Amino acid sequence: MENKKKMHAAITAVGMFVPDKVLDNAYFEKIVDTSDEWIRTRTGIQERRMLENGATSDLATGAAKDLLTTYKINPEEIEVIIVATVTPDMFFPATACLVQDNIGAKNAWGFDMNAACSSFLFALQTGSGLIESGRYKKVLVIGADKMTSITDYNDRNNCILFGDAGAAVLLEPTTDLKYGFQDSLLKVDGSGRESLYMKGGGSLNPSSHETVDKNMHVIYQDGKVVFKAAVKGMADISYDLMEKNNLKGDDIAYLVPHQANLRIIDATAKRMGVGREKVMINIQKYGNTTSATIPLCLVEYYRDGKVKKGDKLILAAFGAGYTWGATYLVWSMD
Ligand code: UT7
Repeated sequence: MENKKKMHAAITAVGMFVPDKVLDNAYFEKIVDTSDEWIRTRTGIQERRMLENGATSDLATGAAKDLLTTYKINPEEIEVIIVATVTPDMFFPATACLVQDNIGAKNAWGFDMNAACSSFLFALQTGSGLIESGRYKKVLVIGADKMTSITDYNDRNNCILFGDAGAAVLLEPTTDLKYGFQDSLLKVDGSGRESLYMKGGGSLNPSSHETVDKNMHVIYQDGKVVFKAAVKGMADISYDLMEKNNLKGDDIAYLVPHQANLRIIDATAKRMGVGREKVMINIQKYGNTTSATIPLCLVEYYRDGKVKKGDKLILAAFGAGYTWGATYLVWSMD
C-alpha cells in the first residue's frame, strides 16, 4: 500500500510551550493525603506545569509561535491548523480558530481533534492524509491541553497526574518515501467510556447548579481499569504495527509513548523488545499533558540532539473513549 503513495508527510519544523509555574510533589503533599515517594514509584512523575492565566489556545499559540520563529516561517504560508485537545477554550469556536487569529495565519482553515490522550496521533494521521492527498503543503498539527482546568485538586487519585503544555509539528510533503509518516493503526472502543470521562458540561448533562454541586466538571478516572486497558492496548497495537512493517525492536531508534504512567511505558517497551534507553520519557518533568505528551517528547529529544534524520520511531498512545493507536514514522529533519 505504502509504495503507491506519491508523497509522504514529513515533520519539517517543531515548537513547544510549557508554562513557568511548577507544581512539584511536595505541593501535593500539602493539599492531599499523598507522598513524593508514592507519586514517584507509582507514576514516575516528579513535577508538572500549570498555566495560571490563560487557556489552551495560549499553550497552542505559544508552541506555534516557537515553531514559526525558530524556522522563520511566514504564518501566511500555513494552510491547515489542527489542534488536538480535550480542553478547548470553549465548546465553540474551535481552538484552531483562536490559534489562527493569534499567529496571523490568514490563509489557513482548521479544526480541533478530540481523541483524548490519543488526540495527537489521530491529528497526525489526519494531517498526513491532507498532505498525501497532494492538496496541502503546510499543515500545522498542535497538541495542547490545559489539564489543570479540569482537574479536581481534592482527588488524590487524579490530581497528581496532570499538567499543562503545548507542542507543535509542521507537516510538509516529501517525495523521498524513506522519510516521514509511514503507517499507523488507530482504534476506538466506546464501551470504555465510563472508565475515564468528564461527566458534566456536555449535551448529556448540561452545566447547571446541580452538575457543579455534584462535581461533574472534572476528570473522573477508574485508574486501575484504565491502567490495565492502557498496557494491553498500547503494547498490542505497537507490536501489530511493527509486525505489519517488518520491524524488530533493534530497528527502532525510539518508542515515543504517551506519558501517563512510567509503569505503562515500561510494560509497552518490554512487549516491543525495546530497552529503556530507546524510550522517550519526560513524564518526570511534565506529568500527563494529554494531547501534548508525544509532540513534547519529540521536540525535546530532537533539540537535545538525540533524534537523527533516518531514525525510525514508533509513537503510541492510549486514552479515554477508549482511543488508542500507534504510528510509524521516519525522522526527516537534520
Ligand atoms: O492518559 C490517559 C490514560 N490514563 C492512564 O493511563 C492512567 C492509568 N492509571 C494509572 O496510571 C494508575 O492506575 C494510577 C496512577 C492512577 C493509580 O495507581 P495504582 O497503582 O493503579 O493505584 P491504585 O488505584 O491501585 O491504588 C492503590 C492505593 C489505594 O489505596 P488502598 O485502597 O490500597 O488503601 C489508593 O487509594 O493507593 C492509593 N492512592 C494513593 N496513595 C497515595 C491513590 N492515589 C494515591 C496518592 N497518594 N496520590
